[in-house]
Amino acid sequence: MNVLVTGGAGYIGSHAAKLLLTSGHNVTILDTLELGHEQVVTNLRTLPQANEQTLAFCKGSTADRETVTKLLREREVECVMHFAAYALVGESVTDPLKYHRNNTGAAVELLEACDASGVSKFIFSSTCATYGEPSEEFIPIKESTPQHPINPYGNAKLAFEKALMDFRTKREIEGRPFACAMLRYFNVAGSDPDVLIGEDHDPETHLIPIILQAALGKRPGVTIFGTDYPTPDGTCIRDYVHVQDLVSAHATVMNALGDCDLRTYNLGIGKGLSVREIIEAAKQVTGVDFKVSEGERRPGDPPTLYADPSRVRAETDWVPQFTDVNEIIRTAWDWFSAHPDGYAS
Ligand code: UFG
Repeated sequence: MNVLVTGGAGYIGSHAAKLLLTSGHNVTILDTLELGHEQVVTNLRTLPQANEQTLAFCKGSTADRETVTKLLREREVECVMHFAAYALVGESVTDPLKYHRNNTGAAVELLEACDASGVSKFIFSSTCATYGEPSEEFIPIKESTPQHPINPYGNAKLAFEKALMDFRTKREIEGRPFACAMLRYFNVAGSDPDVLIGEDHDPETHLIPIILQAALGKRPGVTIFGTDYPTPDGTCIRDYVHVQDLVSAHATVMNALGDCDLRTYNLGIGKGLSVREIIEAAKQVTGVDFKVSEGERRPGDPPTLYADPSRVRAETDWVPQFTDVNEIIRTAWDWFSAHPDGYAS
């Protein structure tokens, strides 16, 4: 299939681009390179499957409807995987319009471009942040859990989910089938086991990369944000899903999507791990006894978030390969120790 991967030079998008390319699809990457890395494209071009037909790169924004429409037509794109987005919850509070402009507005422009060309499938990177702080009765989180985001990041992602659903209905009424999937991610972690691509954020805010940077001596240590949560060890519980498994779910769902399908899936392993458990696992994997201190809670962190992934498991062939967090951390460690300064290394 001909697939457009927006944000394909970023962390999750690059893993999707690699998987699609190595599974025989034609990939077009659209990325502004504001947060993505040109080196991703260079590295992907070294794959034996890569040539002018199978891998194209366009530097640009989904907000540029005209250019994107032209690109979709030229590359005869059938499916869009939309990863490009800002994803810092704290920043979304201080600059909410940045999130609404890009994560909702620019994504709507992308849908307009899809409407004007031959795209008939759309896979959207949504988030468990659309659920906000579900009460205990809703843990583990099912897709039917009420969506009440508690920050602009979650609001903007939810707004686009709604735009996507409305657009799909319009196309159904017109008799022009358009299928879509909203994939709500939990905590994505790990890196490409081949170490061709990996995780490189600036600034880095995620727990596992911060821990590994501390293990490498690039940070003085790790601070646990809050030790008085109502959880067994007092620290927050999350569901860590390997990026390789996450993107394989995208490919599986893309292949399964029928004409006018609307699918919503939670993508997590279904297992909650605390911050302390992640730190202990990372000490084991790296063999480094880095410094850990206890700090204040980070505003907006719900105590416990983990998925009930039974719907995606029942309705598709998706089987996550990385169910042991040590293995997830091991792949991230392989990347970070080989690239201590990210793609600049
Ligand atoms: N944490 C620390 N110390 C750190 C960094 C993180 O204790 O230095 C804790 C956080 O407080 C949280 C846990 O580690 O309890 C995980 O934090 P991350 O920042 O790695 O991930 P989040 O759970 O905050 O974020 C994830 C996704 C976001 C998404 C959010 C929804 O990465 O994109 O879930 O709640 F928006």
